[in-house]
Amino acid sequence: MLAGKHVVCGVSGGIAAYKAAALVSALAQKGGHVHVVMTRAAAEFVSPLTFRSLTGNPVHSEMFEEPKVWKVEHVGLAEQADLAVVAPATANVLAKMAVGVADDFLSTLLLALTCPVFAAPAMNRAMYRHEATQHNLALLRGRGVRMIGPAVGMQACGTAGEGRMSEPEEIVAALEGFLARRGRWQGRKVVVTAGGTREPLDPVRYIGNAGSGKMGHALAEAFQESGAQVVLVTAAEREAAVGVKCVRVMTAEQMRTAVLEEFAEADVVVKTAAVADYRPVRVAEKKIKKDVGGSGVDSIEGDGDAERFGKDNDGLGTDGNGTCEDGSVCRHDDGRLSVELVPNPDILAELGRIKVNDIRKPSGIGRTSSIGKQNGIGKPNGIGKPNDIGWKKPFLVGFAAETHDVLAHAEEKLRRKNADMFVVNDVTQEGAGFGGDTNIVSVLFRDGSREEWPLMSKTEVARRLVDVIGDRMT
Ligand code: C5P
Repeated sequence: MLAGKHVVCGVSGGIAAYKAAALVSALAQKGGHVHVVMTRAAAEFVSPLTFRSLTGNPVHSEMFEEPKVWKVEHVGLAEQADLAVVAPATANVLAKMAVGVADDFLSTLLLALTCPVFAAPAMNRAMYRHEATQHNLALLRGRGVRMIGPAVGMQACGTAGEGRMSEPEEIVAALEGFLARRGRWQGRKVVVTAGGTREPLDPVRYIGNAGSGKMGHALAEAFQESGAQVVLVTAAEREAAVGVKCVRVMTAEQMRTAVLEEFAEADVVVKTAAVADYRPVRVAEKKIKKDVGGSGVDSIEGDGDAERFGKDNDGLGTDGNGTCEDGSVCRHDDGRLSVELVPNPDILAELGRIKVNDIRKPSGIGRTSSIGKQNGIGKPNGIGKPNDIGWKKPFLVGFAAETHDVLAHAEEKLRRKNADMFVVNDVTQEGAGFGGDTNIVSVLFRDGSREEWPLMSKTEVARRLVDVIGDRMT
């Protein structure tokens, strides 16, 4: 796993620095190219010569020293690194990472790294429990730093407690586990949907929902860093991770088309998006005015109960009888406005039907566009068939945000939509709502089993989901 990988080992100044020697030695023995970067304090505990001898590579510490090998200064090292692990990670170095301080070689390097970063916190239990440290740890986790430990045990100060650095073997196992999990996604295609769809009423207004796209974008990133080929179909106005193919959509209909375009070759589809269940029957061509008289918009005469926005002014068709029968926006005499809605397609349920019934030609596909031709829908393609390792492609994952009877609703949706897994959160719980950086989820599987996960950052939820989906598929 580690053979040939460039691993940066950051060693900061705690007594556990002596254990970093065993870690570095193990990584080097497994064939890793290990580059040790020490803080000044760490060099007080263990001599740089120890690490130099264990790795065969120069040890970095001072920012302004003569480069030991040309281009292997902090930026060169950052570009080269496949993985980085800070062990021990003191409260001080964690605080610097959290804030982005870059005042020595290690902290500057940490800011320049783009590879996955691990940290093994090590400090006295009171320092570990301090609000400042906990805050920094939460910030770093949310930003994607993977924490290993700390363990509970005897500490250098003579008391037992939480804050002891995890043992070198555990750290090596965590790094190897990460690389192994990442390897299994190579060559697999994953489609993730994200964000709340917006269903236009007129050129400036829409019916929307509170879906922020954070969870879906975090999932796309987690799959991408695991080595999968990722297509993110998103209705959210947020950046997609580098390397992810991003398809921007606004409405449920557009999302359906985009998902069906990508579906045929997908190994996994994760429907994180909050898709609007209904959309206005018609979209007005012009902005709907608040006050008919005052706005200068000529409305069509009603039957005394309601007036219809005529095609000439708001772009909505009318039969002139003042009712809403053909799906218009109607203004009533008492000032009320009614908008008639029609159901949107349920994309996940449609995917479930295609998969279970092994339908090669879903409705609407092939008729109106080149989708079928481009992606092989209409030809045998493995949908609904057990693949070479035994799961039925694609593995379908739904999300449900609920306010009551959370598990019962999710269970019902899982069955009705023929999904393989459902991730559900109670949005009334603090830390699990829309738009936040954290989530509390339950994961339901088709075999009736269930996992309850505690509060964690959306980044962590996403990574765990990638692992759980990977486990279920293999
Ligand atoms: O039925 P409900 O909307 O609660 O189901 C949620 C799940 O179904 C989500 O995964 C969502 O992305 C998906 N869904 C869909 N198309 C819809 C509505 C929901 O794919 N029209």
